Amino acid sequence: MHHSDLVKTPLQPADLRGLLREATTAAHDALDRHFETMIDEPALATYRAFLRMNHACHAALEAWIVPAIPADIAADRPVFTDALAADLAAMEIPALPAPHPFEGETADLAAAAGILYVLDGSRLGARVLVRPLAARRAAREEAIALTYLTAAAAPGPVFAAFNAVSARLEDDDVARVLDTARKTFDYFGSTAARAATAI
Ligand code: HEM
Repeated sequence: MHHSDLVKTPLQPADLRGLLREATTAAHDALDRHFETMIDEPALATYRAFLRMNHACHAALEAWIVPAIPADIAADRPVFTDALAADLAAMEIPALPAPHPFEGETADLAAAAGILYVLDGSRLGARVLVRPLAARRAAREEAIALTYLTAAAAPGPVFAAFNAVSARLEDDDVARVLDTARKTFDYFGSTAARAATAI
């Protein structure tokens, strides 16, 4: 019998992230197109919808994953719901009520890994977005609240919690991680569509 039949190979977080990126590239591009006018458009409607979507999704998902992940990993991960709530308040944007995407399901480690990938990976996008918005705010003296984007774009590794959670998973968990990440992108997409209305 081959050695690998006896000893399970631990999942490598970097490999899992590669699979996730592959599985969600199309979903990411679709979401990107929703917000491509965010930086240039004179009306700030797109940025407002972006904040609203992010607030609804982070509020639902950050609360859901906490009980599923080890307390030390949760304690080290920055949360963004409060910063998003502050930006909504500052810009007088009504919060969007958001049904939970995984209603009735219990969060487990594999689901948490899929969600952490999407939430914390989006910080890479925040790094791209924060500079032009800050420049625009300075140039036009507009009321653009940037608490969330500033916090999300802070330097440092964004995938620490994802890596720590992934290191506890096994090959059998991969399908659920990928499925949850896809559902999370879908949830952002459907919330984006709702976030653009009535503000
Ligand atoms: C206009 C909005 C957005 C822009 C411009 C943007 C841009 C980017 C950029 C430049 C990267 C880095 C790609 C790389 O390093 O190869 C990235 C990564 C990522 N973004 Fe976005 N993004 C946006 C919105 C979002 C949103 C709303 C989400 C989540 C719902 C998201 C999820 C991710 C994830 C998961 C990654 C990590 C990909 C990986 O390296 O595995 N992004 N984004």
